[in-house]
Amino acid sequence: MQNELKGRTAWVVGAGGTLGKQISADLAASGATVFVSSRDEKKLKDMAAGTALKPLPVDITERKSVDAAAAAIVAQTGRIDILVNTTSLSLFGDFLNLDDDVWLKVLQTKQIGYMRTTRAALPHMIKQEKGVVVNVTGKGGRAPRDVHLPGCSANAALNLLTKGLAMTYGKDGVRFVAVSPGVIDSPRLAAIRQSTNERNKLDPAGSDKAIAGSNYLGRLGSAQEVSDAVLFAVSDRAGFTTGTVIEVDGG
Ligand SMILES: NC(=O)c1ccc[n+]([C@@H]2O[C@H](COP(=O)([O-])OP(=O)(O)OC[C@H]3O[C@@H](n4cnc5c(N)ncnc54)[C@H](OP(=O)(O)O)[C@@H]3O)[C@@H](O)[C@H]2O)c1
Repeated sequence: MQNELKGRTAWVVGAGGTLGKQISADLAASGATVFVSSRDEKKLKDMAAGTALKPLPVDITERKSVDAAAAAIVAQTGRIDILVNTTSLSLFGDFLNLDDDVWLKVLQTKQIGYMRTTRAALPHMIKQEKGVVVNVTGKGGRAPRDVHLPGCSANAALNLLTKGLAMTYGKDGVRFVAVSPGVIDSPRLAAIRQSTNERNKLDPAGSDKAIAGSNYLGRLGSAQEVSDAVLFAVSDRAGFTTGTVIEVDGG
């Protein structure tokens, strides 16, 4: 909704991705000042060209980088009202073939990374007595997928962290909401599809049918459908919504 978020400062981490791009554009269209973060600075600059988006490269696996980015936002706008975490690494495979390194990379990029950005932004929200953090998690957090167990574990942990933080900081005026997408039409899906085919010896048509048929609606979701849920979660229309998971997964 136009101007609904006017005067608010938003920080999208993972902004260069399929979902991050859509969410960033929709936050800006709603009137927020939007800082867009991921590692690839050129990609961020290309994405921000001709828009009001503010590129701010960050590596979510490095505390220093995350803390410096949060400080840079506050130096420019004096506040952080909205934090959206939506990073990921497309590393999938059979459990027995996944080395420690893969587990650590996935957990650093998602579970621990989301904690880092939250820890950096939260003191400002507490000071403002208002703020909202949206963690984009995933259906695998409640219905695990065989080739995606590190990411599914991170999603389950983040759903719980979202609730725990909501309980801890609700009285400070800060809300925490997880938005959990199911299969979304995106390049990431191609990587899951390939890994699913290899592990289960499916032909591509078989895996497409299995993936699309894995929800009540029998289709893939869109980035727009996920972004719509995020935009609701960060708005005052969701003022009494916290510590919960909004499932955007076709059932
Ligand atoms: N797409 C789906 O079907 C789907 C389904 C369920 C859940 N989800 C969840 O939704 C979220 C977004 O998914 P997506 O499809 O938009 O992912 P994506 O297209 O792969 O984008 C991921 C983003 O994370 C950034 N990133 C990766 N490592 C980073 C790091 N160390 N520091 C900072 N940024 C980093 C990437 O940019 P750089 O490489 O430039 O850093 C990229 O902008 C993820 O948490 C994913 O698990 C997605």
